[in-house]
Amino acid sequence: MKKFPPIIKGMPVMLHGGDYNPEQWINSREIWEEDMRLAKLANINTFSVGIFSWAMLEPEEGVYNFSWLDEIMDMLSKNGIKAMLATPSGARPPWLSQACPEVLRTGSDRRRSLFGGRHNHCYTSPVYREKTKKINEMLAKRYKGHKALGLWHISNELSGECHCELCQEAFRNWLKARYSSLDELNGLWWTAFWSHRYSDWSQIESPSPIGERDLHALNLDWKRFVTSQTIDFLRNEAAPLRRLTPDVPITVNMMGFYSGLNYNEISKEEDVVSWDSYPVWRGDENDVRTAAAAAMSHDIFRSYKGKPFMLMESSPSVTNWQSVSKLRRPGTLLMNSIQAVAHGSDTVQYFQFRKSRGGAEKFHGAVVDHEGSENTRVFKEVSAVGSVLGKLSQVAGAAREADIAIIYDIESQWALEDSKGYKQDKKYLPTLIDFYEPFWENGATVDVIDQTHDLSGYRLVVAPMAYMIRPGFAEKAKLLVERGGVFVGTFLSGIVDESDLCFLKGAPGPLKELFGVWCEETDCLYDGEQSMVGFKGKAYAASDFCDIVHLQGAKALGWYEEDFYKGFPAVTMNEYGKGQALYIAARMEKAFLSDLFDELIRSLGIATPFSGKLPYGCTAQTRTDGEVEYVFIMNFGTKTALIDVEGGGASMLTGKAVAGILELHPMSLEIVSRPVSPEKRKI
Ligand code: GLA
Ligand code: ZN
Repeated sequence: MKKFPPIIKGMPVMLHGGDYNPEQWINSREIWEEDMRLAKLANINTFSVGIFSWAMLEPEEGVYNFSWLDEIMDMLSKNGIKAMLATPSGARPPWLSQACPEVLRTGSDRRRSLFGGRHNHCYTSPVYREKTKKINEMLAKRYKGHKALGLWHISNELSGECHCELCQEAFRNWLKARYSSLDELNGLWWTAFWSHRYSDWSQIESPSPIGERDLHALNLDWKRFVTSQTIDFLRNEAAPLRRLTPDVPITVNMMGFYSGLNYNEISKEEDVVSWDSYPVWRGDENDVRTAAAAAMSHDIFRSYKGKPFMLMESSPSVTNWQSVSKLRRPGTLLMNSIQAVAHGSDTVQYFQFRKSRGGAEKFHGAVVDHEGSENTRVFKEVSAVGSVLGKLSQVAGAAREADIAIIYDIESQWALEDSKGYKQDKKYLPTLIDFYEPFWENGATVDVIDQTHDLSGYRLVVAPMAYMIRPGFAEKAKLLVERGGVFVGTFLSGIVDESDLCFLKGAPGPLKELFGVWCEETDCLYDGEQSMVGFKGKAYAASDFCDIVHLQGAKALGWYEEDFYKGFPAVTMNEYGKGQALYIAARMEKAFLSDLFDELIRSLGIATPFSGKLPYGCTAQTRTDGEVEYVFIMNFGTKTALIDVEGGGASMLTGKAVAGILELHPMSLEIVSRPVSPEKRKI
């Protein structure tokens, strides 16, 4: 049996908790005591504290007050609650911005902000780095060895970019390290276009609406720099923590589908990945797509490290920033929470525990309402989540094993979305979800990785809209197929290299040989316009993009049935080594993707929890420790579903045997444990 170690040392259980901001109630100590009583009732075992506490910890420059946090930490440990202790850099006290305006962020319009808000520091500012390092060091010294200290939560949702002079200089230095000369940069950035050739490094400025914004290679490098500088800032924050508390793991809470940073790179800096998930549950049939999208996000965050992650934030009820603060239907919270666990989370945490009385988030859902008691619907639902998590301790540390990978590449996304041409809205993320859905409906485990990831462990790799091909990716894809794997690509692939320069000699660039096709042109359809494709005796609708391809070794499996490219291949397959490469030349309707992938799953013998597809709206996701597998069967649909739990198992919710047909009501779930069959015991 192999399991990953618990996220917090000595706590091999599911963690349940959330953001806790007792400093907002510093003058009402009776509330702190009451919080401990309520936390116990809600089955809570962790709290994230200190996230925005800088002004309370250092009310004036150099004047520190840790006494309230000492009290909180002691209170937590007395009550058996672990602290995910935050560094406070997510928001600054006013005195700091007043004394050193360089810590304030400058926008792409070159205007420096005034003090206010949060998540808006300059990550290059030496002053800000010095101050954050200092306060982090004080926190680490003070709470090193404290019984409550379980994990470091660095800053909060690192995001955004700064365009101040310090950042411009850092950007130029970063470019000097990346390129051997200005000539090289000019060549790769294609600056001969519109006479933008630089004759001195000092002429280079970050992209701006009032300046350069059309040099796509500059835009790309700027985004890479923003990630690199954010990492540099993060390392500066982490240094004292790593030095003084080497055994305490570090995390940085990230945001789903946030495209401002390359999270794959950020994740390398953390010991455990965590993210904040806020899907919009509407209580109608849209929830099926929402569930698939949330499932894919969980798989993205799990795949960064290939081990259990943390659901660092989620709302116990509403958010205050979605267009409508729709109440979640009863039972939705449990689904939202356990879905994360099904995809590999070892925690369920909320924003936040006690609802703020004032400020911008006073109407955001919280475990404890302004009303203050345990007698609310939300509180009871949270407590029920806690009691289910209490039954899942065995699952903590269990892995997910995927035969399938979907490629979600942020650098390719940056370049694709920045490109001018084809159609304005390229729909990269919706496309990824479209391709993910058939696997989700079959309960097949999917890793969602970028092009830098190793591909050798997979049997099926799907790379939708791989517009940019990063160095080494084509070679890995070829190796996968040579050895017997299947690689699936689509329209708008293999167009540019990592400098955003178009490949010469035809698309799909370095993947041309693998696919055995040459894409000569791409027809872009108006919104609402459709074309038809015939495939295996059926006709399917195509929209948005129709690549016109020539066979160069591949054979056609499907053909366009309309327009001047009628009779041209629309789906192709190339035998390459022992495997196959499939090219889907047009954006095909969902039924096509389902038919194609349902069949591929069966023909490749990819493991799924049950032999058939699940009823609409349902999925079953698996975690395993090598000996036992835990199957999370969930119905996100609006109709009661009947699911054949082949082979049966034991319900982890009731302890009773589950066999035969399981009846699952809308927004409900069952968790079944069963022994792993001997042939599947690979870990
Ligand atoms: C983010 C932040 C939290 C809070 C929530 C509200 O995830 O990290 O501080 O503002 O949003 O949904
Ligand atoms: Zn700056």
